[in-house]
Amino acid sequence: MTTPNTRRRRHIAEIPGQGADLPAEQENPLSTPERREYELVYAGKQREEDILTQTVAAALQPVKTFFTRGRNVDWCNMLILGDNLQAMQSLLRWKETGRLANADHSPGVRLIYIDPPFATRQEYRNTQEERAYRDWLSGAGYIEFLRQRLVLAKHLLANNGSIYVHLDANKSHYIKVIMDEIFGESCFQREIIWRIGWLSGFKTQARNWIRNHDVILFYTKSANFIFNKLYIPYPEGYTRRDGSPPKGAGYPLEDTWNCYEIDRLDSIQIMSYSGEKTGFPTQKNEKLLARIIRASSNPGDIVLDAFAGSGTTLAVAEKLGRRWIGIDCGKLAIYTIQKRLLTLKKEIGNRGDPLTPNPFILYNASLDDLSRLERLPWEEWRCFALHLFQCRDEPHVVGRMQMDGYLGAGDVLVFNHLRDGGAVLDHGFIDALHEQSGGRLSARVFIIAPATRVTFMEDYSARGQTRYYILRVPGSIINELANLDWQAGRSWNAKKARRMAEAVGYDFIHLPEVQCEYLIRTGEGEPGGATAAVIRIQTFQSKATVKGAAPKGNRETLAMVMVDYDYNGRTFTLDAVFYADKIKKEGWEVRLPPASLSGRLMLIYVDIYGNEYREIKKPGDFQPSDR
Ligand SMILES: C[S@@+](CC[C@H](N)C(=O)[O-])C[C@H]1O[C@@H](n2cnc3c(N)ncnc32)[C@H](O)[C@@H]1O
Repeated sequence: MTTPNTRRRRHIAEIPGQGADLPAEQENPLSTPERREYELVYAGKQREEDILTQTVAAALQPVKTFFTRGRNVDWCNMLILGDNLQAMQSLLRWKETGRLANADHSPGVRLIYIDPPFATRQEYRNTQEERAYRDWLSGAGYIEFLRQRLVLAKHLLANNGSIYVHLDANKSHYIKVIMDEIFGESCFQREIIWRIGWLSGFKTQARNWIRNHDVILFYTKSANFIFNKLYIPYPEGYTRRDGSPPKGAGYPLEDTWNCYEIDRLDSIQIMSYSGEKTGFPTQKNEKLLARIIRASSNPGDIVLDAFAGSGTTLAVAEKLGRRWIGIDCGKLAIYTIQKRLLTLKKEIGNRGDPLTPNPFILYNASLDDLSRLERLPWEEWRCFALHLFQCRDEPHVVGRMQMDGYLGAGDVLVFNHLRDGGAVLDHGFIDALHEQSGGRLSARVFIIAPATRVTFMEDYSARGQTRYYILRVPGSIINELANLDWQAGRSWNAKKARRMAEAVGYDFIHLPEVQCEYLIRTGEGEPGGATAAVIRIQTFQSKATVKGAAPKGNRETLAMVMVDYDYNGRTFTLDAVFYADKIKKEGWEVRLPPASLSGRLMLIYVDIYGNEYREIKKPGDFQPSDR
C-alpha cells in the first residue's frame, strides 16, 4: 500500500533529478513533518530509514556455550562480543524470523536497559588498572552514536516493551529530545533521578554545587506496557486513620517515606566491600536493576542490555528468572561477565547460595570484512600487521616459503587474505606451510591474520616439532584502518600501530605466554590413590602492558582456566572452570578427572584483563609421571 508518507518521500527523491527546489517544509530530509513539530538538528544526523536499512548486520558466531551440556532448551541466553549497532541489527533479523521470543511466545525484547558511556571524554580502567573502555565521543558524534542504537532498540522491543536509558546531566536533555523523536513524546513515561554517592560526599572539593545524581529516562514502545507496581508491605497491625483495614498491598515503593529510606540505601554506588563488586569501572548496583526488571518485565521475558559492562543487568535478570541478552565490545567486559555468571549467588547484591545459571552462549558479532580488507594496500597492511605485534620486518625464505620477519627467534608470516578472492586460514593452510617450508621453520612460527579469516579457535596448531601460533587482528582495528586515507601512504612503526590498537581495539588479544606440563599421576599424593590428569602451569605471563603499573610476575595475572572435555572443533562447551586462587593453592596445578581424557580437550587460560590463550590437547599429550 502506498501511504502519503511514502509518496512524499518518492517525490523528494525525484526532485533533485528535475532540478527543482525542495518545498520549504521538506528541505530537511530528516524531518517527517506529519509527526514532528520540532526536533534536534545537528551535523551528521542520519534518517531513521537509513539507519534501519543501511546498518550492516554482523554474523553472530557462537564461540562458547555454558551449561548447555546435556540440556535441550528452546532458548539460550546470549552474550555478544562486538559493536552493539551491528549486533542489534542481527537481533532484528532474529526477531523478524521468530527467533527472539519471550517465554509467552510474544516476539521481541520486553525490556531494554542501557547504561552507555556518558560522553565524559575519559578512559575507564578496572581495579587492575587495565583499560575497560574509552568514553571518547562528544558533541553531535555522541548524540548520533546513541541515536542510531536507540532507533534499532525501538524496533527490537516487543509491542508492550519498555526501555530505560541511564545517563547523567551532561547529555540527558539532548537524549530526551532524541527519544521523544524516536519513541514519540506520548511514550515518555518518567525521568528517574538516581541519587549517587549519598555517603561518600564525593566531589566536595568542587567550587560548585555537588553533582549527586544520574538520570534514567523511561520510555515505552506503546501506551500498553507492563508495569508491575512494587509495594512495601504495611507493618503488622497497620490500620487507616479511621481504624479500617488498609487498602492495597502496601506502600507503593516509588513514593513513600520508606521508599525514600530504601532508595537512599539502594542507590549508593558499588562500595569496595560490596559482595557484587567486580572491579569493573562504572558498575551499577544490582538493587537498581532488580527494581527496573521487576517493574517492567515478567519471568520468562527477554531483557536486553546493549552496553553490558560488568553484566549487572544480566546477573539480575538471571536471578529473577528472565531471559537475557548482553552485548559489549570490550574483552574485559566479556571476561568479567563470564566470571560473574560462573560465580553467581542467588540473592540480589550477590549474596546467599550459589546459583547455576541457565544455559547461555557467547557469540562473536563479526562483520564480513573482506571488502574493508581489500581497501588496504597489501604492503602497508603487511607493515602494519608486523608492527602491531612488534615483529621485525625482515623478509626471508625458508624452504619454498617466503616469510615476512621474526618475533624473537620465531619466523613470522603475514597471512595473505587477498589470495584467491578472499582466502581463509584453516588447518589445510598450516599443513601446506609446513610442507613447503620442508619442516625447517623455527620451533615457534607466528602467523598474523585478520581474526575473521581464521576458521579455527585454538591459538596454535602443532606440526612435527613446530608450533604455529595465530596472532589475530580484530575487526575493530580493521574497521579503523579501512577508514584511513591509504592513498597518502603511511609509514608504520610499532608505536603508531600500538597506539591505533589502544584507541579502538578493546577486543585486541595480547596472547599470554603459557607453558605447561601435562601429566598422568597415579597413586600416592592423589586423593584416594586415584589417577589424575594434571596440568602443571609453569609459565603464565600476560603480554598486556599496563601504563604506569609495575610488571606482574609469573602466574600473577592468571584469572582462570576453562575446560571443554570433548571439543567439537567449532564451539567451546564449558565443562569445568578452575580459578587462579585454587590453582595456586594446589601448587599451580589443574587436576582433571581421568575419565575426562577421552576426546579432544580445549583449554582456555584467561588473564585478569580478559586475554585468552586457547589450546587443544589429546589424551596422548598427558605423560605418566611419578612426581
Ligand atoms: C558504563 S559501562 C556499563 C556498565 C554496566 N551498566 C555495569 O553495571 O557494569 C558502558 C559499557 O559499554 C560498552 N560499549 C561502549 N560502546 C559500545 C558499543 N558500541 N558496542 C558495545 N558495547 C559498547 C563499554 O565497553 C562498556 O563496557
